[in-house]
Order: sequence, then structure tokens, then C-alpha cells
Amino acid sequence: MKFFNREKEIKEILSVIESEPQLIYFIYGPINSGKTALIKEVIKKIDLDKYIPFYIDFRMKNIVDIDDFAEVLLEVRDDIEVKTLEESIERALEIILSNIKLLKGASVFFGMPINIPISEKVFQKFLDGISKKEKKVGNIYTYIEKLLLRIRSLGKMPILVLDELQMLKDISLNGNKTLLKSFFQFLVGLTKAHHLAHVFCVSSDSLFIEYVYSATELEGRAKYILVDDFEKKEALEFLNFLEKEILKKENFLSQSEKEKVYDLVGGKPVYLVSIVNDLKTKPLKKVLSYFLQDEKAKIKMELEKFDYIKVRVKYEDQEVEIKKEDVIEIFRKFKNQDVLKKDEVKAPAYYYLVKKNILFLDPINEILKPQSRLTWHAINKALEELNLGKYK
Ligand SMILES: Nc1ncnc2c1ncn2[C@@H]1O[C@H](COP(=O)(O)OP(=O)(O)O)[C@@H](O)[C@H]1O
Ligand SMILES: [Mg+2]
Repeated sequence: MKFFNREKEIKEILSVIESEPQLIYFIYGPINSGKTALIKEVIKKIDLDKYIPFYIDFRMKNIVDIDDFAEVLLEVRDDIEVKTLEESIERALEIILSNIKLLKGASVFFGMPINIPISEKVFQKFLDGISKKEKKVGNIYTYIEKLLLRIRSLGKMPILVLDELQMLKDISLNGNKTLLKSFFQFLVGLTKAHHLAHVFCVSSDSLFIEYVYSATELEGRAKYILVDDFEKKEALEFLNFLEKEILKKENFLSQSEKEKVYDLVGGKPVYLVSIVNDLKTKPLKKVLSYFLQDEKAKIKMELEKFDYIKVRVKYEDQEVEIKKEDVIEIFRKFKNQDVLKKDEVKAPAYYYLVKKNILFLDPINEILKPQSRLTWHAINKALEELNLGKYK
């Protein structure tokens, strides 16, 4: 499907790319707001004679240790018959450039085939020969840095897109140092220190973004770009766009029906796409009532859990128990408003709700809100049905 709008965000990211790398950019926002789609669209727009984009999705694999991390970061190839690091870099460069050529010639854009290749032999040397974990990642960083330097020597600028970076958060390196910390240091080196490459990190996990925002090693070295669900105006235009794209028909829905859609589910692109798809076979009323029913059932299930088990969440490195009353108290605050100031709400109960993807925390703007307008309605409906509107 074609990409819709996001002109403001695209402009912002392109202008970052046009200047010298200085900071690490974090692209954050509620789940399914279109962050990945946006960054892929940006890559489609850049001049591939000048830029070499790499796209790494940390959710490709369940990462539990350094070896998994290395295998996601690098594309290990058994067809690169070389033994030394330098030779591997030269071969990797050839592969990257030929992939770029393919990408330029393609009339259709198929995802992003550009990884960071490495010869299996060289990679094995990294992993086997050294027992100390820290050295192992050190080797990987050196390899990438050298490759990026080589790309710069050709007059081209590398762009690293690291999607779902939160997957690295819980991996420990040694003692109290985490893999993520070492990776951030590496990324600061690439941007602020050596201006070698642009770095964009993408994440839907707002607790991770909060952690990053308060990480001292990133202070003054990172910037944040919020990609939120569409506002009303864009959402209504997106519905027009989807009618044409999916239903091949203009004004399938009347203006007031479109407003009804927005008023219930809000501007999350996946919801709007899904609704328009459902309209092929079902009337709008049915489609919308199913959406609300489904989301409300999820909220009720979360609340009912408290009656049977002790609900715990990790907060400030400790497992703490969450009380049902505290969760309900937060829900009740959303009765007449769909956004709250972070400090109006009790932690750690809100941590639990963020973790469950019911609430979205924007640590930069210090606000807390339901993951979508649909979730907001579902919360209110669930309270009403459980007779919890006036919970004491
Ligand atoms: N601007 C857009 N135009 C068209 N479709 C979009 C747009 N933004 C998001 N989508 C649709 O929504 C889906 C979810 O977006 P995605 O980028 O995966 O969300 P996120 O990465 O924020 O979780 C995409 O697969 C795409 O189908
Ligand atoms: Mg994504």
C-alpha cells in the first residue's frame, strides 16, 4: 500500500540527514502509530548515490545473549571466503554497493535488503577465540566502525536505523554493565564524537524511552522525535485515502460516518486500515462495535486478574505488587479527559498499565494517555460495566 502523509516528520528527518551526524535520534510513539512505516518511507526518499541506509530490526530474533545480538546486527555470510578483518570489510562493501544498485533499479520497493555483511570465518574468530564478553562486542563494534569509515572514504554517508532497540535492555554484559550501555557508547562514538554515520533508534516501548531519556551516558547526545497516531484532520484524510486504495471507491463512507470512526478509534493507522478492510464485507456499525467490544474485553480481563493473582511489575529494579484500587484510580481519572500529566498519576501502577500497552507514557512531554482513543473508550466502558465508576 502507498504511504500517506507524515510530511512534517519526513521533513524533520530529512533535514537531520542533510546535516553532519551529531546526535542519536530516538523515534518514539504509541504502538502501531507508524514509526517503522515512516522511517522506511524516508529511506525510500533519500538519494542512494549519497547515502547508504542500513535497517536492523532487533525483533527478528529472540535476543538473549551477545551472540544473538551479533547475529542480528551483522549478516553472517558463508560465501565470503576471506580470513582477515580487512578483507571481510572490502567484500562487505562490494555486497552493500551491489545491493544499493539493485535497490536503485527496483521499480517496486521491497523492504530493505541492506544489512551489514561479515564473513563467517571472521565472525567465528570474534565469537570463539575470546572468552571475555566485553572484548567480543568490542570486536563487533570495531568491525562496523571500520566498515562505516570505508563507506565515508567513498564520499557516502551511512544511515543506521535500529528498530525495536528495547530488545537489548535486559542483556547484561558483565557485572552491572549492560549491553545496551556499551551499544549507546558505541553509537555516541559514531555520531557526536566522530560524525561517521546517522543513527535513528525506533521504539514503541515507552518505558524504554523513559529509561533512555534519563540515561546519563546519553545526556546531551540524543534527541527525540514523537510519531503519534494521526490527529483528527489527518485521520479523516487517511480514511479518504484508504477508501480509494482499498475499496477503490470515493466517499464509501459519508463525512459523518468518518467522524464516527475517528471519534471511536482515533487516528491509529492500523485500526483505520483494518476498519476499511472490514467494510468490504460488513456494515460500519458492526465493524465499530466489534472493535470496541474486543478492546473492552481486554481491559476487563486485566482488571479481573487482580481478583485471582498477585499482580507484580518491575519498578526501579524491584518487583512490586500492584493494587487493583490504584489501577482503577488511574482509569477513573480518564473519565473526563484523555490525557493526564505524569505526576498526577501513581507509579508504579501506571508502569504496569504502560507495560501492558494500555497506557502510553511520553516521558519527554511528561504525559500519560491511553494507547489509542479506542483504548480510552474501552477503559470507560469497562469501568461502567463492572460498576467501578465510583470505586472507593
Ligand atoms: N503513513 C502511513 N501510510 C499508510 N499506512 C501506514 C502509515 N503509517 C502506518 N501505516 C500502516 O500501519 C501499520 C503499522 O505501522 P508501523 O509503522 O508498523 O507502526 P509502529 O512501527 O509505530 O509500531 C503499517 O504496517 C502500515 O500498514
Ligand atoms: Mg515498528
